[in-house]
Amino acid sequence: MAESTNPASLHEYSQLVRSVMEARLEGRTPLAFTHTYGCQGNVSDGERINGMLAEMGFDFTDSPEKADFILYNTCAVREHAEDRVFGNVGALKNIKRRNPNLIIALCGCMVQQEKIANKIYSSYPHVNLVFGTHVINRFPELLYKTLTGGKRVFELSQADNSICEDMPVRRDGNIKAWLPIMYGCDNFCTYCIVPHVRGRERSRDAANILQEARELIAAGYKDITLLGQNVNSYAVKNAVSSDGEEWNFPKLLRAIDEIDGDYTLRFMTSHPKDCTAELLTAMAECKHTAHHLHLPVQCGSNRVLKAMNRRYTREKYLELVKLARKKMPDLSLTSDIIVGFPGETYEEFCETLDLIREVKFTSLFTFIYSPREGTPAAKMEDPVSHEEKARWMGELLKLQESISAERCASMIGTRQRVLVENVDSDGMLACRTGGNVIVKCEGDASLTGTFAECEITSARNWILGGKIL
Ligand code: SAH
Ligand code: SF4
Ligand code: F3S
Repeated sequence: MAESTNPASLHEYSQLVRSVMEARLEGRTPLAFTHTYGCQGNVSDGERINGMLAEMGFDFTDSPEKADFILYNTCAVREHAEDRVFGNVGALKNIKRRNPNLIIALCGCMVQQEKIANKIYSSYPHVNLVFGTHVINRFPELLYKTLTGGKRVFELSQADNSICEDMPVRRDGNIKAWLPIMYGCDNFCTYCIVPHVRGRERSRDAANILQEARELIAAGYKDITLLGQNVNSYAVKNAVSSDGEEWNFPKLLRAIDEIDGDYTLRFMTSHPKDCTAELLTAMAECKHTAHHLHLPVQCGSNRVLKAMNRRYTREKYLELVKLARKKMPDLSLTSDIIVGFPGETYEEFCETLDLIREVKFTSLFTFIYSPREGTPAAKMEDPVSHEEKARWMGELLKLQESISAERCASMIGTRQRVLVENVDSDGMLACRTGGNVIVKCEGDASLTGTFAECEITSARNWILGGKIL
């Protein structure tokens, strides 16, 4: 396991920031506006950043105009994600003009790229604080320096590979919780920026994960998702934890599952190259694990998979799906697809369509390939136009829509155990099945945050309707 650092200074700096803000605002409670882009891992970081802000005495606002502190926690996975941040940060110039004391901060994957950090430094002078993915735990210290040092603070140093276990957390909800089990990625898929901005793979100590899981379950959380870029390689790099035991992901899943309580356990993301029969067996045998597997395939052509450095074949993937369904006949499978990887031909894209037809996923996350500077794929020849790729995407979406609709229709008349997540604006209960399918039910708002049995009564495209039994 990666070594933990618990600098007392995190909390000391929080108190220092609190005093500075108290003096600045003459006792008024400071308000923070924070927004996170990107994956669940980033959302989880955002919850720790909000935890630190709360410790520093901040309250939260949904309105940037009212804020004393604004932070965007950014994502770099596709160009579109970065464009949105630049747009939003540009727009803050006017707010800053009206409120010169406003502190504007950026953190997350996007700013960890040197070129982007330089662009912010030179073209967005109203941004006061920029910090990277490796120094999140130093946020109170960096904010203190920004408030008192009289100059802009940019801190993008790389990790010493330690994991900070000492950050307070302010979770976004009280029903679903994210539980990070590892950070970084060592897989270097050729299209992907994540290993470049998040650093090397490191696993949290099992004892700390189990402790956090116990706390979440005791606090009444009903849906817990274990997070990592490739959870299947949990503890592979450093298997022995502080308790002297040797761990791997199936063992961790079973250990968490042993904790008593009324909750569902999920995990993501599971890389097909490391998904083993041992994991599928553990999933099938655990009482709390949802029979939902997010298993990103990316594409259906072996040539393209190789060029992506995914390290499995279409055949291996299909075999895995078969094995998983044998162990869990009710398994719901979801996946990620990239359309238009450099050099992908229409015929190769059709192999992806074929695979989708064969597997019949519950749902898909689909992306048109976006070149990321510094990755090998960005240097590959990419002759197909964006318009052409968008047409392919349209074809894929149409296919998946019909598969999802067919799957949903086949669920009519079945009984499902669902978690009632919230009440929609139309007064209907928004519920989720173990397989991660949304069901809208009529019912009492007091059921929110509980598990209920429901009968599926209708399916309109891929939205299910049901009634609580
Ligand atoms: N670790 C996960 C994926 C994390 S990124 C895994 O390996 O499955 C989430 C998804 O974004 C990826 O699965 C991929 O489909 C997509 N993605 C990543 N880089 C991309 C790029 N450059 N262009 C388009 N989509 C990309
Ligand atoms: Fe990116 Fe591949 Fe790592 Fe997933 S496994 S984060 S796609 S490099
Ligand atoms: Fe984006 Fe970083 Fe996650 S690039 S997808 S926020 S790891």
